[in-house]
Amino acid sequence: MNNKRENFGSRLALILAMAGSAIGLGNIWRFPYLVGQNGGAAFIIVYLVSCFVLVLPIFMAESIIGRRTRLSTFGAMKKLAPGTPWKWLGLLTVITPLLILGYYSVVGGWSIDYLWKACTLRLTHDTAGLFPIFISSTWEPLFAFTLFIVATAVIILLGVKNGIEKFTKFCMPTLFVLIVAIVIFGLTLPGSSEGVRYLVKPDFSKIDAGVVAAAMGQAFFSMSLGMGTILTYASYAPENENIMASGIGTTFADLGFALLAGFAVMPAVFSAGIQPGEGPGLVFDTLPYIFSQMPSWIGAIVSIVFFLTILMAALTSSISVLEVGVAYLVEEKGIGRVKSTIIITLIGWVLGIFCSLSFGPLSGAKLFGLTIFDCMDKLCSDWLLPLGGLLFTLFVGWYMSKTDVRDEFTNHGTTNVGIFNVVYFLMRYLAPLGILVVFITNLVL
Ligand code: TRP
Repeated sequence: MNNKRENFGSRLALILAMAGSAIGLGNIWRFPYLVGQNGGAAFIIVYLVSCFVLVLPIFMAESIIGRRTRLSTFGAMKKLAPGTPWKWLGLLTVITPLLILGYYSVVGGWSIDYLWKACTLRLTHDTAGLFPIFISSTWEPLFAFTLFIVATAVIILLGVKNGIEKFTKFCMPTLFVLIVAIVIFGLTLPGSSEGVRYLVKPDFSKIDAGVVAAAMGQAFFSMSLGMGTILTYASYAPENENIMASGIGTTFADLGFALLAGFAVMPAVFSAGIQPGEGPGLVFDTLPYIFSQMPSWIGAIVSIVFFLTILMAALTSSISVLEVGVAYLVEEKGIGRVKSTIIITLIGWVLGIFCSLSFGPLSGAKLFGLTIFDCMDKLCSDWLLPLGGLLFTLFVGWYMSKTDVRDEFTNHGTTNVGIFNVVYFLMRYLAPLGILVVFITNLVL
């Protein structure tokens, strides 16, 4: 991904790279617990609306900037808007990845730890209480977190193409098959229909500004939007690629995985009597419960393969987070790649230590009533990513000339000519307005 002249060879390669970044812990870990915290089906409906009203226009805005300039964020801004404050938008592509890398790697560490637990057959019998004990301890999560962030850095240093991309092509279908199998198995558990009802019967009275902000933030997080990841990937898109088609392909793949994860988790939550609103630990409490209910040898195999593929999905996303920060230091500050990777990783590591400890020894340290982990997560998803998204759409909708935008969107007038006006309208008015309204309501409430 570092060679600027290199392009993705095909649409499939581009969609796979984008989907590899998009599909990760956001779908499997974050989506189900947010559904549980924000009232079930009503949240899912707001999420679906966010995907099409916000995600698509912002995805297109990032894609247009990336492919037009063939540069990453900072350079792109300098090229399209020389001498203007727009280049400071590039700053978000440094701060946000640092924060996300920190807490994302903590959860990545949990999946390493659970993979280890699966391999040592500790997930095949009663697992109640396992997660709270693990998470509130000091060293075990810290150790796993460090392994994860180091693995991310090593992959970035080795180069992404050969290792991880080939592995992802194998992992994603495996993950898909496993989740479908888990959904089917979960539905056979006693009491699971309550969980299905929770996912499909919306209670609209549950929707408030907080729910809308959470759904919108999740849409940004899950689609890797708002900090230049998609922009950078699009800068490698082939000249004749239909960027709208890759946007829609990635959105559906990402959405599909999130919904499947919801259906894998929620029925089992109700069957096991777990609280749906318990927060970030939900998936790690629930899935081992499902595995422990399977015949033990099947549970053993499924749990190992499952946590291994989750780990891979997490790594293909965390590298895309780290890469954005590293690209900035390399391209804009002229710092060598190895040194840049070490700098960003070290800062992410220090931040992550606090996040990891905030489930145990530092659980009393709170800001606005939130633990350090929740604070960083909320700061990024509810504020920084939507802010980045807002600025990207404003840039494309209001700063760039319509002719240029249309030219890039339609591949010089050859595709998508009909829908251009619809997306342009969303980019110019609806998406920025939607984000602003949520920001303001959030501030006032
Ligand atoms: N989208 C990824 C996930 O769902 C996480 C991720 C990768 C991300 N790159 C990003 C989130 C950029 C926000 C911004 O797990």
